Amino acid sequence: MAESFTIKLHNGQGVKESKLACEERYLLVELREKLKALKTSFTSVEVYKKGQSRPLFKLTPKFLSAPLIISIIGTGYVGLVTGVGLCHRGRKVICVDVDQKKVEMINQRETPIYEKGLQEMLSSLPSRQFTCTTDMKEAVLKSDATFIAVGTPPMDNGDQCLDHIRAVSIELGKILKHKPGHLVVVKSTVIPGTTQNLVKRLITENAGHSKFRVAMVPEFLREGLALEDFLNPARIIIGVENNEDFEDIKFIFKEFKTSFFKTAVAAAEMIKYASNAMLATKITFANEIGNICKHQDIDVYEVMDGVGLDPRIGRAFLNAGRGFGGRCFPKDVKALMHLGRKIREPATLLEAVWQVNERQPLKLVELAKKRVGILKGKQVAVMGLAFKPGTDDVRESPAIIVIRELLRQGAQVIAYDPVASENMAKVFPNIEYGKTPKNVIDKADVVIGVTEWPELRDGRLYEGKVFIDGMKFLNKKTGKDYEGICW
Ligand SMILES: NC(=O)c1ccc[n+]([C@@H]2O[C@H](COP(=O)([O-])OP(=O)(O)OC[C@H]3O[C@@H](n4cnc5c(N)ncnc54)[C@H](O)[C@@H]3O)[C@@H](O)[C@H]2O)c1
Repeated sequence: MAESFTIKLHNGQGVKESKLACEERYLLVELREKLKALKTSFTSVEVYKKGQSRPLFKLTPKFLSAPLIISIIGTGYVGLVTGVGLCHRGRKVICVDVDQKKVEMINQRETPIYEKGLQEMLSSLPSRQFTCTTDMKEAVLKSDATFIAVGTPPMDNGDQCLDHIRAVSIELGKILKHKPGHLVVVKSTVIPGTTQNLVKRLITENAGHSKFRVAMVPEFLREGLALEDFLNPARIIIGVENNEDFEDIKFIFKEFKTSFFKTAVAAAEMIKYASNAMLATKITFANEIGNICKHQDIDVYEVMDGVGLDPRIGRAFLNAGRGFGGRCFPKDVKALMHLGRKIREPATLLEAVWQVNERQPLKLVELAKKRVGILKGKQVAVMGLAFKPGTDDVRESPAIIVIRELLRQGAQVIAYDPVASENMAKVFPNIEYGKTPKNVIDKADVVIGVTEWPELRDGRLYEGKVFIDGMKFLNKKTGKDYEGICW
């Protein structure tokens, strides 16, 4: 809701007053627009809320160059959530994507991805403060800082593909030819050295100068909780070349109540990889202990509840099951493994993590076969297709490994997911997708639980069926009609 503010411009000789009406969260952006339009020189400016005698704040002309308008290249999980989150917190945001359809959807306030709360927040953003375009030049020239959030997908050899980063850097260089001082922030996950050795180099080559700034701010959001994570980060890692850039990036995130960690650009890049590798290792450790527990008739969840009480270890990321998937953990672990091989410093631990994780989902198929015999011709229900609950993302989902193996063994797969069936149908167009869990379970000879959506954690759904549990859907012990993967 718009509110009224009074602006008092001091210029050493007198005070000039002006009015401004806007939502309070966009006060800084609107104030700057107003000051630029007024074209009046000033030494300081005070802003008063209607009816208040004390100013809300007082600013110097330095504020005119503060990074308030942010362009974001790439509107996937990271780009769109960053854009929506920053705008919600008071920045003016211009998102950019090459995908015209996505751009149209976003401008019509329709989110192209499913993330809790994203649709509502996107719908609430005023078009004056949040727009999306395919015109990168316009977006960059109108903004103070540009975030790069394009994909860095894995290649077959495990290395990461930097084609999108390259393309964006070249274009940015051409655009920044006549715009010195611009701040470019890499948010995509990139192998250490990429921001300075690739992004900075390509921009310099194409701009014909190096009067711009680069920084790296890795993103740690979890899909499914992306918006919540973005708005309430445990920390913001800021990789910079100097303190001025650190202060500018802190300003962009001024409204975020968290700690800011200043580090070198390449260290910021590595922090992202090391964090994901650590989490993937924790999960895999729990899975390996779980596989041993299974043979010894021990419930690994009880074990990890006990282990996790040690504050040096903690309980998070020790939920044993069918292994990790998703766009980030697999690709980031693989990229580090690839880097290790390339520099002849093999990441032996991560190589082992990878092997355990690849085998883990197949255990579900083995257990199903053990329970109902040869799977050829059998109807097998696969419950939960997204790589984890709360997202429609099926990239590198363990469900893909399970379905592929079931099909290889000649089973007929019927699958269910509350939101990810459409995406999985692009991977497996020829299997059946149920509209409700019951649709699928009723027809099945055996049911495999892969991704533990809350609505699939009701034991009544599986009554009378053999249920192979890959992620502790049910708090049960292995027995008649029920078998846990690691318990
Ligand atoms: N998804 C996550 O949970 C997550 C979390 C942390 C970090 N990351 C990292 O963030 C980066 C982005 O990941 P994502 O999942 O958002 O990717 P994504 O594939 O969902 O989205 C990337 C977007 O960039 C667009 N794009 C590609 N080339 C472009 C160009 N030249 N100009 C404009 N737009 C272009 C694509 O159309 C797409 O919309 C990756 O490096 C990823 O590793 C992802």
